[in-house]
Formats: sequence, structure tokens, C-alpha cells
Amino acid sequence: MEVVIVQDAAAGGELIAEGIAALLRRKPDALLGVATGSTPLPIYDALTAKVRSGAVDAARARIAQLDEYVGLPVGHPESYRSTVLRQVVEPLGLDAGAFMGPDGSAEDVQAACEAYDRALVEAGGVDLQILGIGTDGHIGFNEPCSSLASRTRIKTLTEQTRVDNARFFEDDIDQVPHHVITQGIGTILEARHLVLLATGEGKAEAVAQAVEGPVAALVPASALQLHPHATVVVDEAAATKLKLADYFRHTYAHKPAWQGL
Ligand code: F6R
Repeated sequence: MEVVIVQDAAAGGELIAEGIAALLRRKPDALLGVATGSTPLPIYDALTAKVRSGAVDAARARIAQLDEYVGLPVGHPESYRSTVLRQVVEPLGLDAGAFMGPDGSAEDVQAACEAYDRALVEAGGVDLQILGIGTDGHIGFNEPCSSLASRTRIKTLTEQTRVDNARFFEDDIDQVPHHVITQGIGTILEARHLVLLATGEGKAEAVAQAVEGPVAALVPASALQLHPHATVVVDEAAATKLKLADYFRHTYAHKPAWQGL
């Protein structure tokens, strides 16, 4: 696992967007796995700017959703499908055909989960998966004690996550669904490259446990330690509880440029 400490969220977004641009130059039809929430917005803004300036061509990129609320009406603005279309697919100039995600409104949720896992494999697998981290250490919506081998399935959100996400629902926790579909931890680990961005002091404890603690289902993000190519980008605030911060700074400063992200 590589840990990169950057000054702030904008620098993290720029670094990861450049990594995605390098991937698209190598593989124009790369399948990009995208997270939602506040953290990845600087990545999507920086990537959109690169596309609009002509620094990278994303016309053949494909986008895969990480998770979805269950039970929101189709087209609800806070469904993750609507969010990804608004924040990633449209700004990059892609059409909806370039996008895939689980069906949160399916009558048979389990079948929809299994279908999504199959669709990811049939699409050739995710090339680069962007991840955020919850204050409780979740990735996707794999809450603490999720199996490290889990597949895409329905999960029940913790009260903490519903409180954290109420800001997207007029600060009304009663509007936040209890259930979600999320790629499992086993599914996420199949992506070729995992890139987790964490910003702000509120993420410092979860980051320290994920990076420096034991691999444990209690901290789902610690599963990144099992992946051969995992990059954790943190801003100074989110890095404050890392014991090895100086080591991470030193190794990144001396990293061979040809290695890229
Ligand atoms: C959502 C997702 C979640 C978020 C996490 C952090 O697609 O994957 O794991 O990344 O809840 O959310 P923010 O970035 O809003 O703090």
C-alpha cells in the first residue's frame, strides 16, 4: 500500500485526476469505478478540467458505480445513479450508455446485486476504483464487520452513516434510507488499482486504523492492505494520526517518476 500525503483536498483531487488521465492515455476505454459523497468531488472537477482543456480524451471511458441506496424513487436526485450521472458522466461528456450501476429500485434486490457483479466481470473488470472512507472505516457501504470476501449485496447502514449522510437529505435523517446495495469488499478488491482519498480531520482516526492497524472486518478499509496496488491519498488533516507520516512523505518524495500513481 502506498500512502501519499498532500496539502489539501484540491491537491489530492489533482493528483488522482492525473493518475486517471495517465490510465486513459494508456487504455482509452478504461472502466473507472466511482464513489459518491463529498470527498471525490475535487477528483471529478480536476478530471473534467483536463478533458475540457484537451489534456486527456475521455470519450471512450466507462464508469461503474460503487453503491446505491435501496428504495429511493427512480430519478431521485440523491440516488447515487443520479449523482454519478450529474457529477461524473455528464461533465465528462459521456452518454448514459457509458455508465453501469446496480438497480436500487429492483423488486428482487439480491438478483440485482448478483447481476451487477456479473456485469462488472463481463465488462472486463474495474481498472481503477476511486474510494472514500466513512468515519467508521467503511468503503463503499461495507459497514464494520462486513466480510472481507463479500460480494455485491444489500446492507443496512449504521446510524452514524445515516447521520453523516443526512446533509444530502435536507439534514433530515428520516429521509436517509436504511438500506443500500454496495459492491462487496471481495468485489472491490478485484479492481486492478484502488485509490482511496480521505480529507479532513474527521477521517484521521479511520485512516490510521485502515493503514496502520490490523486487517480486520471491523475496519473495512483495512482490506486495502490485501491489494497489490492500493494508493491512499490523504490531506494533512486526515494524516494527523498516522504514526508513519514522515516515512510516507520520504518514500513518496523519492519515488521513481516512471512509476506514476
Ligand atoms: C459512497 C461511498 C462511501 C463514501 C464515504 C465517505 O459512494 O463509497 O464509502 O465514500 O461514506 O463519504 P464522504 O466523502 O461524503 O465523507
